[in-house]
Amino acid sequence: MASSVFSSFRYVFFLFFSVASSKLLLFPLTNSLSSYSHFNSTHHLLKSTTARSTARFLRHHSRQVSVALSPGSDYTMSFSLGSAPKRTVTLYMDTGSDTVWLPCKPFTCIMCEGKFDPQSTPSPYNLSTSAAPVTCQSRACSAVHSGLPTSDICATAHCPLESIEMSECENYSCPDFYYAYGDGSFVARLYTDNLEISMSAPPSLVIRNFTFGCAHESLGEPIGVAGFGRGALSLPAQLAEFSPHLGTQFSYCLVSHSFDTDRVRQPSPLILGRVESSISVNKAKRVGAPRLDDFAYTPMLENSKHPYYYYVGLEAITVGKRRLPVPENMKKIDRKGNGGMVVDSGTTYSMIPEILYNSVASEFGRWMISGDKRARPVEDRTGLSPCFYVDAKGVVPQMVFHFGGNSSVVMPRKNYFYEFTDGGDNGKVKRRVGCMTLMNGGYFPDSGGPAGLLGNYQQQGLEVVYDLLKKRVGFAKRKCASLWDRLI
Ligand SMILES: *[C@@H]1O[C@H](CO)[C@@H](O)[C@H](O)[C@H]1NC(C)=O
Ligand SMILES: *[C@@H]1O[C@H](CO)[C@@H](O)[C@H](O)[C@H]1NC(C)=O
Ligand SMILES: *[C@@H]1O[C@H](CO)[C@@H](O)[C@H](O)[C@H]1NC(C)=O
Ligand SMILES: *[C@@H]1O[C@H](CO)[C@@H](O)[C@H](O)[C@H]1NC(C)=O
Ligand SMILES: *[C@@H]1O[C@H](CO)[C@@H](O)[C@H](O)[C@H]1NC(C)=O
Repeated sequence: MASSVFSSFRYVFFLFFSVASSKLLLFPLTNSLSSYSHFNSTHHLLKSTTARSTARFLRHHSRQVSVALSPGSDYTMSFSLGSAPKRTVTLYMDTGSDTVWLPCKPFTCIMCEGKFDPQSTPSPYNLSTSAAPVTCQSRACSAVHSGLPTSDICATAHCPLESIEMSECENYSCPDFYYAYGDGSFVARLYTDNLEISMSAPPSLVIRNFTFGCAHESLGEPIGVAGFGRGALSLPAQLAEFSPHLGTQFSYCLVSHSFDTDRVRQPSPLILGRVESSISVNKAKRVGAPRLDDFAYTPMLENSKHPYYYYVGLEAITVGKRRLPVPENMKKIDRKGNGGMVVDSGTTYSMIPEILYNSVASEFGRWMISGDKRARPVEDRTGLSPCFYVDAKGVVPQMVFHFGGNSSVVMPRKNYFYEFTDGGDNGKVKRRVGCMTLMNGGYFPDSGGPAGLLGNYQQQGLEVVYDLLKKRVGFAKRKCASLWDRLI
């Protein structure tokens, strides 16, 4: 039974389950690579994904320049929005942003060539007749304009002074807002409409007056975003207003895929609400674990300058037997709001500062080099490094991330070492190669932004929980594909 439900996921675009009398909500996350098949080789795919990760990280640093723009995220989720007509929308699930927005008709996308698959990307959203503009004197309008007082915003919206003084500007719309991502930007206007989530059994769950941005113009962002960051307009925050327990935590469990087409197509569960009582954790797997739940929790770090990211502190990385120290700015955020590591669902590969990357790569090489030779041509063609020819002799060392709060996460090997077959084209000999999938974030002693990013590739095979109440992020090893069966 469970397996037939599971296989139907592949074909049903949009599904939703209510579990344990709607104590938690479950969405399937779809990896966008599953429908984005224009890559002509593994090298091409890797080159494209590494370039995207770098672009997004660099934009996290400096929001002024945008050279290489690209899809903001790798995983999409769906729900329906509006009434008369109601339409299914598919958006990137992004913990690195704090609003929900989507492209609206008429839509102009600048520098979006090659960034989406025209066949699988839905056409821009047509606002329903039930959509209402958000007024300039609302909390939502203030939130989207960086907390500016509503009187200032209403003045910009040309509400007359006497109406501002009397708080009678409800007929003046919230002005357009500009929003910049790690890797793109857009201008949008806020609306409210019904958000509807189909349940496994009717009736469906309807959230009235859900606030979202409608963009007619974007730079490098052809697909809308469901922001899961910290902020009043994020999807979890708005669900919390409807039902508080839905907003206290969320988690996802990304199916480990190693770019294998079949595995990339498998949906990954996104769980909103509290989980503990509903999942029966496989006890046999936790021999020696004294705690009731098996998450390794690390505290979220506060950052008043960039309040919507989920920051954690990284204390060290163990490669093999050696515990490698990290620069101080990975452990904490300074007074200017710089430093720390952002847990991001929207970046593929983790980015770490150059000095740490060099020590990790060199320690990694020490284990690999005995049996395997460095595959430098592969490094140039993929953007990943170091890469090695794998002759079954080399030893891939264990890798452990040590986060603040004494929280150590043993990385599944597939999360940091990707093996594939090189060659075979142009009559070249086929050889197995493997590349480390952590990336060099460069050296930015004076620039702002986070010191590192924990990308989704390094989050595969783990359930990552964002506990918003206790302000902590937890990691637990899971078989994410079969987590469905235990949830539904
Ligand atoms: C694959 O596509 C990339 C980018 O479009 C191109 O540079 C490369 O030459 C192509 N490779 C092959 C083998 O067709
Ligand atoms: C968009 O919706 C409006 C009504 O809300 C309708 O009149 C119009 O035909 C729709 N346009 C398209 C292209 O679907
Ligand atoms: C807002 O517009 C509605 C409908 O046009 C009108 O009835 C109402 O009086 C207006 N409110 C204010 C404060 O002008
Ligand atoms: C939704 O907004 C309308 C006005 O646009 C208001 O009358 C109604 O009370 C709101 N409903 C909720 C549940 O907030
Ligand atoms: C961290 O964990 C280790 C092993 O579980 C333990 O020995 C150590 O005392 C802990 N340190 C702190 C500061 O809690």
